Amino acid sequence: MIFVWLTGISPTFNRFLWKKWYNFLALHDPERLLSSMNYGFLPVGNGAESGKSPVDVVPQLELYEYVISDADINGKVVIEVGAGRGGGALYLSEKYNPLLYIGLDLAKNASVDCASLKQNSNLTFVAGDALQIPLKKHVADVLINIESSHCYSSIETFIEEVACVLKPGGYFCYCDLMPVSQVAMMKSQLASHDMHVLRAKDVTCNIMASLNRISDRNTDMIRKKVPWYLKRSFSDFAGIQHTGVYNLFESGKLVYYFFLAKRL
Ligand SMILES: C[S@@+](CC[C@H](N)C(=O)[O-])C[C@H]1O[C@@H](n2cnc3c(N)ncnc32)[C@H](O)[C@@H]1O
Repeated sequence: MIFVWLTGISPTFNRFLWKKWYNFLALHDPERLLSSMNYGFLPVGNGAESGKSPVDVVPQLELYEYVISDADINGKVVIEVGAGRGGGALYLSEKYNPLLYIGLDLAKNASVDCASLKQNSNLTFVAGDALQIPLKKHVADVLINIESSHCYSSIETFIEEVACVLKPGGYFCYCDLMPVSQVAMMKSQLASHDMHVLRAKDVTCNIMASLNRISDRNTDMIRKKVPWYLKRSFSDFAGIQHTGVYNLFESGKLVYYFFLAKRL
């Protein structure tokens, strides 16, 4: 957890470190094994929230499906903040045919890399900061943010930016890990920026089901590709079973939350 500790030192250092980290990942993954970098989502129990059987599902893309499930993106202007290596953006823009899908990410190498994979005329990638979104006011019908906000030095500034970029009536589709205490804070920050919460759900069990499924694959990837001095941090960060983040989910200290909010 040394990496997580380092990110707490100062907001500027935090931004610098995450940017370095994700640029590093983009440069060291030419095969694009990490085209989507989230923990994934799998349906669990009787109340399974997806019609598909887990074997048909790519958990990282299933998380994208889940997060947008109540927001129709067909024919809409969509902005994804923290689009990473673009795997989710490519998938959604091909499947749901938005008018325009803009994937924004702080890590320049990630967006340069995405530009080379771009296949749809409705898909574009830009480098930029979630805390200073380089787009006009009220341009987006839908803003997607998946497992990126834990890197931001201020969630409140991010929510202000989201409220600014969304059109009135637009949707904010969000999920991320957070300490339990942040859930209530998020709800009140959304409300104070004219964002009405339509759904809020703890999906930690779905995320852990996915981590259980992908743990062996990720362990193998870390064993083969990551230098020895980074193996521990990578395992924590990748949510490998019985390491840092996974244990915090298991103990209930960290939760993984989904929010759907509507801009008033
Ligand atoms: C865990 S990855 C998730 C990427 C993508 N959403 C996915 O599911 O594959 C987090 C992403 O957030 C990006 N990020 C971190 N801080 C950011 C910031 N301040 N502004 C924009 N993107 C940021 C990182 O560069 C990284 O690509």
